Amino acid sequence: MERFYITTPIYYVNARPHLGHAHTTILADAMTRFNRLMGREVHFLTGTDEHGDKIVKAAEAAGKSPQEYCDEISAIFKDLWPKLGIENTQFIRTTDPEHKRLVQMALQQVYDSGDIYFGEYGGHYCFGCERFYTEKELVDGLCPDHKTKPEYIAEKNYFFRMAKYQQWLLDHIKANPDFIRPEQYRSEVVSLLESGALEDLCISRPKSRLDWGVELPFDKDYVAYVWFDALLNYLTALGWPDGEMMQRFWPAANHLIAKDILKPHAVFWPTMLKAMGLEPFQHLNVHGYWLIKDTKMSKSLGNVVEPLSLAGKYGLSGFRYFLLREMSLGHDSSFSEEALCGRFNSDLANDLGNLFSRTLAMTHKYFGGQIPQAGQGGPDEEELMMLAKDACLNYQRLFERFQTAKALDSLWELVRGLNKYIDTQAPWSLFKEQNGSRLATVMYCVLECMRKVAVHLWPVMPEAASAMLAQLGVAEDPASINLPAEAEGWGNLSAGTEVAKASNIFPRVEPPVADTPAEPAPKAKQADKPKAAPAAAPAPQGPKDPIDFEDFQKIELRVATVLEASPVPKADKLLLVKLDAGDGEPRQVVAGIAEFWKPEDLVGRQVVVVANLKPRKLRGVESQGMILAVKREGGLELLAPSAQVTPGSAVS
Ligand code: MSP
Repeated sequence: MERFYITTPIYYVNARPHLGHAHTTILADAMTRFNRLMGREVHFLTGTDEHGDKIVKAAEAAGKSPQEYCDEISAIFKDLWPKLGIENTQFIRTTDPEHKRLVQMALQQVYDSGDIYFGEYGGHYCFGCERFYTEKELVDGLCPDHKTKPEYIAEKNYFFRMAKYQQWLLDHIKANPDFIRPEQYRSEVVSLLESGALEDLCISRPKSRLDWGVELPFDKDYVAYVWFDALLNYLTALGWPDGEMMQRFWPAANHLIAKDILKPHAVFWPTMLKAMGLEPFQHLNVHGYWLIKDTKMSKSLGNVVEPLSLAGKYGLSGFRYFLLREMSLGHDSSFSEEALCGRFNSDLANDLGNLFSRTLAMTHKYFGGQIPQAGQGGPDEEELMMLAKDACLNYQRLFERFQTAKALDSLWELVRGLNKYIDTQAPWSLFKEQNGSRLATVMYCVLECMRKVAVHLWPVMPEAASAMLAQLGVAEDPASINLPAEAEGWGNLSAGTEVAKASNIFPRVEPPVADTPAEPAPKAKQADKPKAAPAAAPAPQGPKDPIDFEDFQKIELRVATVLEASPVPKADKLLLVKLDAGDGEPRQVVAGIAEFWKPEDLVGRQVVVVANLKPRKLRGVESQGMILAVKREGGLELLAPSAQVTPGSAVS
């Protein structure tokens, strides 16, 4: 069996987890699930990095001992991951006694082989990065990351002969083009290695300055440099040198990091492995930063976004989908809740959610809720099957390379293609025409493709994908499904299986209210009053002419979902709105709402319609009902249920 060992950086415990940490760990979880579905044995390691200056300072500020402080923050990380649907198979702490013992063993081994020596060094030390910078690396005399002035420190220390392995590393990177990926980071490291002599790496700190670390086994006056200690976690977790996990998972390692820690992973780590006589890891996968208004999200900048509240508002699946869909591997991404809400409503509530709710409703209406037996398909079905196969294979190919954004984009070609196929095949017309065998073929094809979509989405949104599969009557545990077979195969759904009556996995979310209040509009003079503004609703007085309950019952009110909306030619105030009102075929209503609603903002929304109004023509276009709305000063609000319901549900 092929093996896949995925790691995240071990996070510093000087800050609580934020969206940046959550994204890396969710991506690692998605890769874990994906590789399992591809038939591989997977080990997924994450953890916390607990030694060094930063941690001591943070503990002091919190009035705690370093160990007490580390225990507290490490537990916050560890407890958060399951709440985000993350199932790591191991959690390591650098204060674990076993890790410390093995770090000492590694140090001793490299020391004995002659690759660690004692020497004097003076350099520009950045406390934020916990490393020395060379003159050349500083930008205007400042640390390139923290933009602070480093302190010049001269002291005796131990050094790792990193320079000795420079040529070997360069050759290795050139011979293995995807050792570091994506390409821009590989070329960054190649030019770093080609631009001049690599310096040896200072790997100790005198205890007189810092004693919160792993003591050097060959000099008790020193502790190990935090990076030398931290990087080794990827091996100590496996029980290096001869643990059973080591045999199974080294060198099948895929490290996942953001670009902030490229050099330690791309230069320090492979040369350390070489000095220890081990094979290098398989791939270093590098992603960009989450930015808030063009600035990296980080605790020191005070602009962090807390992951749990967003997962609460948009659901775990919506939150995970956004992170993996929005960030293209290697590029920075801007975070805003507006963007999250926009993606949620367009991709999940509209495209995917509607596909599920309309198809399940039609399966109930036309086939009593059972998956029909497909007949012989024609060219349209062949085209749909090709689309499904291509979308799934592309998805798998891209996911293999951690390209989740492009992979999801490819899967959405199928989701949108399915909605289009339904619109062009018009099952409601086939039903009316009593073309039962064609109707069965069309519905089967859609349902079978929906299964493919759900299975492929499991690594990204395990909760929602499991719900989708359950709605399709799939009894298998999603974790045991074979993905390659799902892309190529056809006919996995069995005719006669019962599907769920309704689907409401992604109810639309209202856009967030902007933090900063909009500037108050200048008071309009009487003459400037916009013509379109409707009169404010009059203060309610007593009821108008009372009617009997029986009279009220004559009005059939239903909830409907907007499928499409478009302007009515030569009528500024009217929109033609196509609705799923549970009729089994779209119903069209001409509504006088064009001054207040853009067509694209309506799609996917639920509205309340008067369903039994006699059809009438407005500007030559037939209207089959009326959408209920409330006028207010400067706008018009649509009536809707407080959560999504099955289209066609009666309002009573
Ligand atoms: N402790 C070291 C890593 C040692 S690994 C042997 C460290 N820790 S950290 O807490 O600073 O975590 C850095 C990592 O957190 C990044 O590489 C990335 O995975 C994640 N991110 C932190 N902030 C981020 C963003 N603003 N954007 C994207 N990822 C972010 O470095």
